[in-house]
Amino acid sequence: MVQDVRTLQVQLEDRSYPIYIGRQLISGRWFREAGVPAGRKLLLVTDEHVGPHYLNLWTEALEEAGYRVFTHTVPAGEASKSLQTFEDIITFALECGLDRNSVIVALGGGVIGDLAGYVAAAYMRGIPYVQIPTTLLAHDSSVGGKVAINHPQAKNMIGAFHQPLMVIYDVDTLKTLPQREISNGMAEMVKHGLIGDVELVDLLEQSMEDLLQLSPDGFEDALEKAIAVKVAVVSQDERENGLRAILNYGHTLGHAIEALSHKQGEPIIHGEAVSIGMIGAAQLGVRYGCDSSIVERTRVLLQRAGLPTILPRRIDADSILRIMAHDKKFKDNQAVFILPKGIGEVYIQTGVPIQWVRETIDQLYGEV
Ligand SMILES: NC(=O)c1ccc[n+]([C@@H]2O[C@H](COP(=O)([O-])OP(=O)(O)OC[C@H]3O[C@@H](n4cnc5c(N)ncnc54)[C@H](O)[C@@H]3O)[C@@H](O)[C@H]2O)c1
Ligand SMILES: [Zn+2]
Repeated sequence: MVQDVRTLQVQLEDRSYPIYIGRQLISGRWFREAGVPAGRKLLLVTDEHVGPHYLNLWTEALEEAGYRVFTHTVPAGEASKSLQTFEDIITFALECGLDRNSVIVALGGGVIGDLAGYVAAAYMRGIPYVQIPTTLLAHDSSVGGKVAINHPQAKNMIGAFHQPLMVIYDVDTLKTLPQREISNGMAEMVKHGLIGDVELVDLLEQSMEDLLQLSPDGFEDALEKAIAVKVAVVSQDERENGLRAILNYGHTLGHAIEALSHKQGEPIIHGEAVSIGMIGAAQLGVRYGCDSSIVERTRVLLQRAGLPTILPRRIDADSILRIMAHDKKFKDNQAVFILPKGIGEVYIQTGVPIQWVRETIDQLYGEV
């Protein structure tokens, strides 16, 4: 039984596709509406945490709709975005006789979406795939067609732009997600508000605690607004030639913080690192003339989302700057940052002096 469904549309000429948001969406109906005829082979890729909850339900629904369903489960976690797992899935697809008419279905969080999406981009020079995101963070990763696996030396280094056939976001599946992962995804929702939708920020400020509990209706409202920001950006700049860079708000510092924490064996996960990075971006924005209230407003919102806003001292400024330099984030001792103009609007600032970045990092450690 399918209930109240919201639909957003990514407009990219012949690569346009719908995003369905709602509850109880497990059904073969979306595949038929997307023009996938009965009898086609579908390969569902999932991980060991998601599979036990949702793989059978999806398999049954799709078989009932007349599809020939194959399933492949990989270990949960970032390590599965590897060349080895990529090869394993390709091998399995060959064994199942998948052809250019077959469809890969990514059932899981961003790891599965990126991995299965990249398999779909590469298999027989590209076959269709469907995103069925099951984490809150994946409201971001499942939209926009960026798919990738990791090289041992660099994250997301092997990838493609490959837009999905559709995105099916069944909010009910978030009920089994651990609270830390809800907060993780909430960081990207806050980001989407801060870069492009004041109303979304208002909504998050009004009801953050309810939203973390996936409150009926209110949650879908916020989710839809957050996805709409991503859709608007991607529809204007599919391949990151310009505007799409604003999606990296908070990520310039965030990525470095995330990477360092992993090296230290005490991970600050993506959304948490981006949360600290967004405070840094707000502080830097104030130096360029943004109203200083943005720092406190951002901080309060992120704290209510259960996210950190202070940088632990073990992540030292020199190491952050070294990583940024290594990522080619600096040129001639200057950096490029996405900075706020105000709530809901950002711009790309070039020529940010390293000294300002260092002072911003120092501020992030909080009061001594
Ligand atoms: N392509 C893009 O545009 C883009 C954007 C942002 C992030 N990413 C990528 O996304 C990945 C992170 O995604 P993520 O945070 O969703 O991580 P993830 O896929 O690893 O999921 C997080 C954890 O939650 C578990 N899980 C997932 N759904 C669940 C559910 N419904 N119930 C219970 N457990 C569940 C997973 O097994 C995993 O342990 C990174 O690899 C990142 O590079 C890609
Ligand atoms: Zn992110």
